[in-house]
Amino acid sequence: MPVNFRLPGPTPLPPQVKEALGRDMIPHRGPEFRAFYEQTLRLARELHRTDGDVLTWAATGSAGWEVAIVNLLSPGDAVLAAVNGDFGERFARVAGRLGLDVRRLDVPWGMPVLPDQVRAALTDHPDVKAVLLVHNETSTGVTNPLQHIGAVVRDHGALLVVDAVSAAGALPLEMDDWGIDFVFSGSQKAWMCPPGLLIAAIGPRGWDAYARSEYPRFFWDIGEGKKMAEQGMTPTTPPLSALYAYRAALEMIVAEGLQNVWGRHRRLGGLTREGVRAAGLAGFAHEGYESDTVTAFRPPEGVSAREMLHRMRDQFCVEAQGGQAHLADHLVRIGHMGWVHEPEMQEAIAAVSAVAAQLADEANAAPRSTDEV
Ligand SMILES: Cc1ncc(COP(=O)(O)O)c(C=O)c1O
Repeated sequence: MPVNFRLPGPTPLPPQVKEALGRDMIPHRGPEFRAFYEQTLRLARELHRTDGDVLTWAATGSAGWEVAIVNLLSPGDAVLAAVNGDFGERFARVAGRLGLDVRRLDVPWGMPVLPDQVRAALTDHPDVKAVLLVHNETSTGVTNPLQHIGAVVRDHGALLVVDAVSAAGALPLEMDDWGIDFVFSGSQKAWMCPPGLLIAAIGPRGWDAYARSEYPRFFWDIGEGKKMAEQGMTPTTPPLSALYAYRAALEMIVAEGLQNVWGRHRRLGGLTREGVRAAGLAGFAHEGYESDTVTAFRPPEGVSAREMLHRMRDQFCVEAQGGQAHLADHLVRIGHMGWVHEPEMQEAIAAVSAVAAQLADEANAAPRSTDEV
């Protein structure tokens, strides 16, 4: 039985991407690569819905936090880090390590970051230069209302820096219309590629901020990246296979239609949540803010996530994931982003439901305590 790979990243590779990964190398300073890279960046801009710039690096998503900070800010700058999960926490930690003056907006995990909370925090901290936000908190399965937060941040005048690692390519993202200045993602999520490519988009206010930034930088320098991208190149040897794969994935999304891809994720998110509810399990994300790329739910009372995941894998070949940080053994997370359709999700839901029923039967059959005899 093939594994139904339902991690919230990395995600399954479509045949087109696998084929692209097998392509031969080409000279990365030659005309073929130039045409290829220019066209790839053009498609990426289209899918980020921006007239700004898109750049890429051989890196994973985590590098995006650092790339954003060292290019847009200066040591000691005040930033507002919105934290409602483990990735928001990491973003805040990176900001602290790089010497920013981090003001935190902490929201209980499982809840969304709300525009009014951001407005209030910016009123309390008017000197904030940038808001650091995770669009889709993969650790809790919560999607933050990016569009409305964007409007609040624009009103204030701070930069809006967005980690869209588990959102871009699956959830609606209107970079220019929503006033996002910098947004980054990793290839291994909704982009349907192996891990290893960092993709970042930069808008005009991002470039103004870059001109003022005082951080030293080399590999992550977006100015160098832009200069070379204008000639269809990258400052260092590009990760050719990762770029071939990304290009194949971009073409697949364009062929399906971006709105259709967003719609497919919306449908699969709804279907998964319904399946989890029908299995008698409690979703973790606050209602109305559940992610359409990853569903987090609690295992049955008294059962560890590890046990539930083990049974799903062992008996049904469904590979899902546990929670993160203090929720590691308290949440099961099922990914439904990228190259995924209804049959795989029905199969995964059937596994969740069968394992939940099994565990309930076992709990009922367990001997009662002697007091009750
Ligand atoms: C929202 C979010 N940000 C950042 C990361 C870190 O990305 P990577 O593991 O590719 O470094 C992840 C990974 O799951 C993520 O989901």
